[in-house]
Amino acid sequence: MKKTITLALTGASGAPYALRLLECLVQADYQVYLLASSAARVVLKTEQQQEWPGSPKELSAYLCRQYGAEEGQIVACGKEEWFSPVASGSAAPKQMVVCPCSMGTVSAIANGASDNLLERAADVVIKERGQLILVPRESPFSAIHLENMLKLARLGVTIMPAAPGFYHEPKSIEDLVDFMVARILDHLGVEHALTSRWGYANS
Ligand SMILES: Cc1cc2nc3c(=O)[nH]c(=O)nc-3n(C[C@H](O)[C@H](O)[C@H](O)COP(=O)(O)O)c2cc1C
Repeated sequence: MKKTITLALTGASGAPYALRLLECLVQADYQVYLLASSAARVVLKTEQQQEWPGSPKELSAYLCRQYGAEEGQIVACGKEEWFSPVASGSAAPKQMVVCPCSMGTVSAIANGASDNLLERAADVVIKERGQLILVPRESPFSAIHLENMLKLARLGVTIMPAAPGFYHEPKSIEDLVDFMVARILDHLGVEHALTSRWGYANS
């Protein structure tokens, strides 16, 4: 049995983080349940010039081809696919990452809206006391954003803003993306060789 995880993309800037994270999770042999909001698709087109197929079945096949995954290793789900495993505590993966995470989705999760499968999946991970990581991006944050994130952090949700460091002397955008993805993988407990760890740069 492969390890399973839910990866959700929303309409904040930062699509490259999500694509790199998906690639790394597939390489680490995870089965990935993939959720993408409508706004995430707009951002993907704007930032990566990628237009994903609309139907979940076609998207699953497309992404499996794209990332060299086995058939069924990436399972895209529709936004009202309420019978998906991610919709129920009895079947949902215990780990979920929302990357990038818009302020709209931060608010919906903080308030338990569960109005679409993405929000419901996050609600399930919180109620089941699994590991939920949000990668929010906005600047500046308003008090509304900060209060929502504080509420979630107090519930045990990891708030990991898309804010790459510069102390590893990045030479490219890919280096900055890998910095963030490496930190997410560290928190998930997934081994990787994307960046060296603090204090180990020359060892
Ligand atoms: C190109 C683009 C970039 C955006 N960047 C951000 C962002 O960085 N942070 C954010 O909170 N919203 C951003 N938005 C706005 C959200 O996409 C919008 O609020 C949307 O309703 C979020 O819906 P979702 O949470 O269902 O994905 C952006 C929209 C577009 C089209």
